[in-house]
Amino acid sequence: MSATIVLGAQWGDEGKGRVTDYFAEHADFVVRYQGGNNAGHTIIVGDQRFALSLIPSGVMYSHCTPVIASGCVVDPKVLISEMDMLISRGIDPSRLRLSGNAHMIMPYHRKLDAVMERFLGQNQIGTTKKGIGPAYTDKYSRRGIRIQDLYDPKIFADKVEVALEDANRILSRVYNQLPMKPGQIADEYLAMADRLAPHVTDTSLELWNAIQDGKEVLFEGAQGTLLDIDHGTYPFVTSSNPTAGGAVVGSGIGPKAIDRIVGVAKAYISRVGTGPFPTELRDEIGDTMIELGGEYGTVTGRRRRCGWLDLVALRYSARVNSLTEIFLTKLDILSAFDTISVATAYMSLGDRYEEFPRQQRVLYNCTPVLDNLPGWKTDISGCREYSDLPKEAQAYISYIEDSVKVPIRYISVGAERHQLIVRS
Ligand code: GDP
Ligand code: IMO
Ligand code: MG
Repeated sequence: MSATIVLGAQWGDEGKGRVTDYFAEHADFVVRYQGGNNAGHTIIVGDQRFALSLIPSGVMYSHCTPVIASGCVVDPKVLISEMDMLISRGIDPSRLRLSGNAHMIMPYHRKLDAVMERFLGQNQIGTTKKGIGPAYTDKYSRRGIRIQDLYDPKIFADKVEVALEDANRILSRVYNQLPMKPGQIADEYLAMADRLAPHVTDTSLELWNAIQDGKEVLFEGAQGTLLDIDHGTYPFVTSSNPTAGGAVVGSGIGPKAIDRIVGVAKAYISRVGTGPFPTELRDEIGDTMIELGGEYGTVTGRRRRCGWLDLVALRYSARVNSLTEIFLTKLDILSAFDTISVATAYMSLGDRYEEFPRQQRVLYNCTPVLDNLPGWKTDISGCREYSDLPKEAQAYISYIEDSVKVPIRYISVGAERHQLIVRS
């Protein structure tokens, strides 16, 4: 039996797609357990670049069954177009399993996401505007519409009507928008039911059976720990649980089934959208990270904010996720710097914090306490063994391990599959 969770240890975009792709070589199932098409996971194979938003990264391997579990929110149109994109590029998504219990992102969710952000003005979260927040809001207020509803057209139409009554009231009276038509939405969605039907199943049961049969199951987190609705930098978060607990709830698998929890962390850190960011660099160093690291959003194309590695946040992530190991990505980008800094603590409102502060006001006022380490200033993208790395890079890795108390078992030094160091 083997079940592994791969999750983002920072604010997303840590390289989860490439890490999942690496582990998927030996996995039978790869499962997305939360989020939706707000995610953008990049996989580079030779000169081909794939950006997946909803379909798990395991789809790249023909031996691997991709699963979208019940904790996800699914925009069916996006799912179909992602399947078509894969087919057009010679990848077969026909094995995809889709939970009938997953909630759907509806057109009014997308609309609400956009207008709510606009009305927030200066206080906006900077969402991806894919309708994620409003879809989860409907799920928790128990008027959400699930994939399984597509297969009972009468119930589906009734549910759309009820949900729209509310949504239209908000859209027209609060946000001054034209109301949407329930019949039109129902027709548009029901027209997609047949295409999705062969994929719809009880994914919790299928995963249970797989685990009983000794299959390898990999859970692919989207977003990251600091974007978690419960444990992230609320309210500047997404509306789901990317943390390890989310994998068990979102896929209907008990926690005892999980053996490994791999936290993916960039060798520096980035964030898209607004919200507190203690180690942010709004200077030339930050610009260099953005340019060399290609730090532009996979989904929205937005420039990501970048900064030095934050060990306070990484220790927090190790704790709330019970990380068993760390996969450190993009170490090659740090080759550009003479000195490499890391945050070991924060100062805020006159106090020093070694633990990630839970109070928004404290977090907002944090400035990092930095430690400076010597850089290596040589190209490491060809290194394949730990011993190939310059001693300064090895010292950087040991420093992180000493602080976080979790082993760094994998280090990537380039975006391609083989640009990787696996430590024994
Ligand atoms: P995800 O959302 O966590 O899957 O990450 P993204 O795909 O949004 O962003 C990570 C970016 O970094 C992608 O463009 C990857 O191709 C790239 N990448 C991943 N690992 C490495 C690495 O070790 N070095 C470099 N230079 N790029 C990497
Ligand atoms: P991957 O899986 C980075 C951010 C958005 C915004 C906040 C809420 O590629 O790491 P949402 O649309 O989810 O309601 O937006 O969360 N965000 C991400 N940032 N990577 C992601 O996904 C993200 N998904 C959402 O920028 O700040
Ligand atoms: Mg991404």
